[in-house]
Amino acid sequence: MTTSDEVTITAYPDGPLLVRGAASLQTVEGEPIEVTRRTVALCRCGLSTIKPFCDGTHKAAGFRTDV
Ligand code: FES
Repeated sequence: MTTSDEVTITAYPDGPLLVRGAASLQTVEGEPIEVTRRTVALCRCGLSTIKPFCDGTHKAAGFRTDV
């Protein structure tokens, strides 16, 4: 069970990490990365053109995960 202010990260099989909740995103330098939605998909295939976000390229690339 989740509460409304809880952040959850869901690893989608063969796809991105879906972050739900009020998470803040930043670069390694600590600069904020603008997030306009309460749910964001983070690329884990490394092929997205809009990193750190997923742009769907993983599908065409045939990206596969164990989890
Ligand atoms: S996981 Fe979707 S583009 Fe990388």
